[in-house]
Amino acid sequence: MSFYSWLLGRPFVYDHLRPLVVGGVDAGPLYRKLGATERDVVLDVGCGTGDALRHLRAFAHYYGVDPDATAVAHARGRFARREGVSFRVGTVDAAMLAETAPSLAVLSGVLHHLPDDQALSLLSLLRTSKELSRLVTMDIVYLDGQLLSNALAWLDRGAFCRRREAYEALARRSGWFVRESAVIRSHPTKGRALYLIMTLEPQGTDRERRSC
Ligand SMILES: C[S@@+](CC[C@H](N)C(=O)[O-])C[C@H]1O[C@@H](n2cnc3c(N)ncnc32)[C@H](O)[C@@H]1O
Repeated sequence: MSFYSWLLGRPFVYDHLRPLVVGGVDAGPLYRKLGATERDVVLDVGCGTGDALRHLRAFAHYYGVDPDATAVAHARGRFARREGVSFRVGTVDAAMLAETAPSLAVLSGVLHHLPDDQALSLLSLLRTSKELSRLVTMDIVYLDGQLLSNALAWLDRGAFCRRREAYEALARRSGWFVRESAVIRSHPTKGRALYLIMTLEPQGTDRERRSC
Protein backbone atom coordinates (compact mmCIF):
# COMPACT_ATOMS: atom_id res chain seq x y z
CA MET A 1 0.00 0.00 0.00
CA SER A 2 1.35 3.46 -0.90
CA PHE A 3 1.79 6.14 1.76
CA TYR A 4 -0.97 8.15 0.01
CA SER A 5 -3.46 5.25 0.33
CA TRP A 6 -2.43 4.63 3.92
CA LEU A 7 -2.87 8.30 4.80
CA LEU A 8 -6.31 8.60 3.16
CA GLY A 9 -7.38 5.48 5.05
CA ARG A 10 -6.63 6.92 8.53
CA PRO A 11 -9.92 7.34 10.41
CA PHE A 12 -9.37 11.07 11.08
CA VAL A 13 -8.44 11.81 7.47
CA TYR A 14 -11.35 9.69 6.17
CA ASP A 15 -14.00 11.10 8.51
CA HIS A 16 -12.91 14.77 8.70
CA LEU A 17 -10.47 15.85 5.96
CA ARG A 18 -11.91 13.94 2.97
CA PRO A 19 -15.35 15.65 3.35
CA LEU A 20 -13.62 19.07 3.29
CA VAL A 21 -11.92 18.26 -0.03
CA VAL A 22 -15.10 17.07 -1.77
CA GLY A 23 -17.27 19.82 -0.25
CA GLY A 24 -19.05 17.61 2.27
CA VAL A 25 -20.28 14.02 2.33
CA ASP A 26 -23.82 13.05 3.25
CA ALA A 27 -24.63 9.37 2.71
CA GLY A 28 -28.23 9.91 3.84
CA PRO A 29 -29.69 9.25 0.36
CA LEU A 30 -28.00 5.84 0.25
CA TYR A 31 -29.49 4.72 3.56
CA ARG A 32 -32.92 6.06 2.63
CA LYS A 33 -32.78 3.77 -0.44
CA LEU A 34 -31.92 0.87 1.86
CA GLY A 35 -35.19 1.45 3.74
CA ALA A 36 -34.31 -0.55 6.86
CA THR A 37 -37.06 -1.23 9.41
CA GLU A 38 -36.90 -2.70 12.91
CA ARG A 39 -37.40 -6.17 11.36
CA ASP A 40 -34.31 -6.02 9.12
CA VAL A 41 -30.91 -7.56 9.61
CA VAL A 42 -28.43 -5.21 7.93
CA LEU A 43 -25.03 -6.36 6.71
CA ASP A 44 -22.60 -3.48 6.03
CA VAL A 45 -19.74 -4.91 3.98
CA GLY A 46 -16.68 -2.67 4.14
CA CYS A 47 -18.19 -0.76 7.08
CA GLY A 48 -15.03 1.29 7.67
CA THR A 49 -15.44 3.62 10.64
CA GLY A 50 -19.19 2.85 10.90
CA ASP A 51 -20.63 5.81 9.00
CA ALA A 52 -23.80 3.77 8.31
CA LEU A 53 -24.80 4.01 11.96
CA ARG A 54 -25.00 7.79 11.73
CA HIS A 55 -27.91 7.23 9.33
CA LEU A 56 -29.59 3.93 10.26
CA ARG A 57 -32.30 4.43 12.87
CA ALA A 58 -34.12 1.08 12.78
CA PHE A 59 -32.91 -2.51 12.47
CA ALA A 60 -33.18 -5.81 14.31
CA HIS A 61 -29.43 -6.28 14.02
CA TYR A 62 -26.58 -4.49 12.27
CA TYR A 63 -23.40 -6.34 11.32
CA GLY A 64 -20.41 -4.33 10.12
CA VAL A 65 -17.46 -6.15 8.59
CA ASP A 66 -14.20 -4.73 7.26
CA PRO A 67 -10.66 -6.09 6.74
CA ASP A 68 -9.17 -2.88 8.16
CA ALA A 69 -8.70 -3.50 11.91
CA THR A 70 -7.95 0.17 12.61
CA ALA A 71 -11.21 1.30 11.01
CA VAL A 72 -13.20 -1.40 12.86
CA ALA A 73 -11.63 -0.41 16.20
CA HIS A 74 -12.71 3.17 15.49
CA ALA A 75 -16.24 2.00 14.58
CA ARG A 76 -16.47 -0.05 17.76
CA GLY A 77 -15.38 2.94 19.83
CA ARG A 78 -18.17 5.03 18.31
CA PHE A 79 -21.05 2.56 18.09
CA ALA A 80 -20.49 -0.84 19.74
CA ARG A 81 -22.61 0.14 22.75
CA ARG A 82 -25.64 0.64 20.53
CA GLU A 83 -28.14 -2.19 20.90
CA GLY A 84 -28.07 -4.82 18.18
CA VAL A 85 -24.75 -3.70 16.72
CA SER A 86 -21.72 -5.93 16.11
CA PHE A 87 -18.52 -5.53 14.14
CA ARG A 88 -16.03 -8.02 12.74
CA VAL A 89 -12.58 -7.66 11.26
CA GLY A 90 -12.33 -9.60 8.00
CA THR A 91 -14.20 -10.18 4.79
CA VAL A 92 -17.65 -11.61 4.28
CA ASP A 93 -17.89 -15.30 3.41
CA ALA A 94 -20.58 -17.97 2.99
CA ALA A 95 -20.38 -18.95 6.65
CA MET A 96 -20.97 -15.39 7.79
CA LEU A 97 -23.94 -15.02 5.43
CA ALA A 98 -25.46 -18.27 6.72
CA GLU A 99 -24.94 -17.21 10.33
CA THR A 100 -26.22 -13.64 10.04
CA ALA A 101 -28.96 -14.14 7.35
CA PRO A 102 -29.11 -10.47 6.31
CA SER A 103 -32.29 -9.09 4.74
CA LEU A 104 -30.52 -5.92 3.54
CA ALA A 105 -26.90 -5.22 2.63
CA VAL A 106 -24.73 -2.19 1.98
CA LEU A 107 -21.59 -1.73 -0.10
CA SER A 108 -20.77 1.92 0.55
CA GLY A 109 -17.55 3.00 -1.10
CA VAL A 110 -16.34 -0.57 -1.62
CA LEU A 111 -16.70 -1.55 -5.30
CA HIS A 112 -14.26 1.14 -6.46
CA HIS A 113 -11.60 -0.50 -4.28
CA LEU A 114 -11.98 -3.87 -6.01
CA PRO A 115 -10.86 -5.08 -9.46
CA ASP A 116 -13.60 -6.63 -11.60
CA ASP A 117 -12.92 -10.25 -10.59
CA GLN A 118 -13.10 -9.45 -6.86
CA ALA A 119 -16.13 -7.20 -7.28
CA LEU A 120 -17.91 -9.98 -9.20
CA SER A 121 -17.01 -12.55 -6.53
CA LEU A 122 -18.31 -10.34 -3.74
CA LEU A 123 -21.54 -9.40 -5.54
CA SER A 124 -22.11 -13.05 -6.54
CA LEU A 125 -21.49 -14.23 -2.98
CA LEU A 126 -24.04 -11.75 -1.62
CA ARG A 127 -26.50 -12.94 -4.30
CA THR A 128 -26.38 -16.46 -2.79
CA SER A 129 -27.82 -15.17 0.48
CA LYS A 130 -31.45 -16.38 0.41
CA GLU A 131 -32.96 -13.79 2.76
CA LEU A 132 -31.27 -10.82 1.10
CA SER A 133 -33.92 -8.71 -0.67
CA ARG A 134 -32.00 -5.49 -1.36
CA LEU A 135 -28.40 -4.38 -1.74
CA VAL A 136 -27.44 -0.73 -2.07
CA THR A 137 -24.08 0.51 -3.34
CA MET A 138 -22.42 3.92 -3.50
CA ASP A 139 -19.22 4.73 -5.35
CA ILE A 140 -17.25 7.45 -7.05
CA VAL A 141 -17.92 7.40 -10.80
CA TYR A 142 -16.43 8.79 -14.02
CA LEU A 143 -19.02 10.85 -15.90
CA ASP A 144 -18.89 12.67 -19.26
CA GLY A 145 -18.26 16.40 -18.87
CA GLN A 146 -17.80 16.34 -15.07
CA LEU A 147 -14.17 17.45 -14.94
CA LEU A 148 -14.00 18.43 -11.26
CA SER A 149 -15.78 15.34 -9.98
CA ASN A 150 -13.70 13.13 -12.29
CA ALA A 151 -10.49 14.75 -10.98
CA LEU A 152 -11.57 14.14 -7.38
CA ALA A 153 -12.38 10.52 -8.28
CA TRP A 154 -8.94 10.14 -9.83
CA LEU A 155 -7.35 11.38 -6.57
CA ASP A 156 -9.34 8.85 -4.50
CA ARG A 157 -7.35 5.99 -2.97
CA GLY A 158 -9.75 3.50 -4.61
CA ALA A 159 -7.96 2.37 -7.77
CA PHE A 160 -11.02 1.00 -9.62
CA CYS A 161 -13.32 3.93 -10.21
CA ARG A 162 -15.52 3.05 -13.21
CA ARG A 163 -18.08 4.54 -15.54
CA ARG A 164 -21.72 4.10 -14.57
CA GLU A 165 -22.39 1.38 -17.18
CA ALA A 166 -19.44 -0.66 -15.89
CA TYR A 167 -20.79 -0.69 -12.31
CA GLU A 168 -24.25 -1.67 -13.58
CA ALA A 169 -22.78 -4.43 -15.75
CA LEU A 170 -20.95 -5.92 -12.74
CA ALA A 171 -24.22 -6.01 -10.80
CA ARG A 172 -26.14 -7.67 -13.65
CA ARG A 173 -23.40 -10.23 -14.30
CA SER A 174 -23.62 -11.23 -10.62
CA GLY A 175 -27.36 -11.95 -10.77
CA TRP A 176 -28.69 -8.60 -9.52
CA PHE A 177 -31.49 -6.58 -11.07
CA VAL A 178 -30.66 -2.87 -11.14
CA ARG A 179 -33.84 -1.43 -9.64
CA GLU A 180 -32.41 2.10 -9.67
CA SER A 181 -29.15 3.79 -10.58
CA ALA A 182 -28.80 7.45 -9.66
CA VAL A 183 -26.01 10.03 -9.62
CA ILE A 184 -26.05 12.27 -6.55
CA ARG A 185 -23.81 15.01 -5.16
CA SER A 186 -21.58 13.97 -2.26
CA HIS A 187 -23.51 16.56 -0.24
CA PRO A 188 -26.92 17.87 -1.40
CA THR A 189 -25.96 21.58 -1.29
CA LYS A 190 -22.15 21.77 -1.00
CA GLY A 191 -20.86 18.58 -2.63
CA ARG A 192 -18.26 18.92 -5.39
CA ALA A 193 -17.98 15.16 -6.05
CA LEU A 194 -20.62 13.02 -7.77
CA TYR A 195 -21.41 9.51 -6.57
CA LEU A 196 -23.33 6.64 -8.17
CA ILE A 197 -25.94 4.94 -5.99
CA MET A 198 -27.37 1.60 -7.18
CA THR A 199 -30.38 -0.14 -5.64
CA LEU A 200 -30.11 -3.84 -6.46
CA GLU A 201 -32.61 -6.66 -6.02
CA PRO A 202 -32.26 -10.35 -6.83
CA GLN A 203 -32.94 -11.04 -10.53
CA GLY A 204 -36.12 -13.00 -11.25
CA THR A 205 -38.13 -11.77 -8.27
CA ASP A 206 -41.82 -10.88 -8.59
CA ARG A 207 -41.00 -7.18 -8.27
CA GLU A 208 -38.53 -7.36 -11.17
CA ARG A 209 -41.03 -9.22 -13.37
CA ARG A 210 -43.76 -6.68 -12.59
CA SER A 211 -41.52 -3.77 -13.63
CA CYS A 212 -40.55 -5.32 -16.99
C1 LIG B 1 -14.12 4.10 1.14
S1 LIG B 1 -14.14 3.06 2.54
C2 LIG B 1 -15.88 3.05 2.93
C3 LIG B 1 -16.16 2.84 4.39
C4 LIG B 1 -17.65 2.94 4.77
N1 LIG B 1 -18.44 1.92 4.10
C5 LIG B 1 -18.21 4.30 4.50
O1 LIG B 1 -19.14 4.43 3.70
O2 LIG B 1 -17.72 5.28 5.12
C6 LIG B 1 -13.93 1.46 1.79
C7 LIG B 1 -13.83 0.33 2.79
O3 LIG B 1 -13.87 -0.91 2.10
C8 LIG B 1 -13.04 -1.80 2.78
N2 LIG B 1 -12.73 -2.95 1.90
C9 LIG B 1 -11.79 -3.03 0.95
N3 LIG B 1 -11.83 -4.25 0.35
C10 LIG B 1 -12.84 -4.94 0.94
C11 LIG B 1 -13.38 -6.25 0.78
N4 LIG B 1 -12.90 -7.11 -0.13
N5 LIG B 1 -14.41 -6.63 1.56
C12 LIG B 1 -14.92 -5.77 2.47
N6 LIG B 1 -14.45 -4.52 2.67
C13 LIG B 1 -13.41 -4.11 1.92
C14 LIG B 1 -11.84 -0.96 3.19
O4 LIG B 1 -11.12 -1.53 4.26
C15 LIG B 1 -12.53 0.35 3.57
O5 LIG B 1 -12.82 0.42 4.95
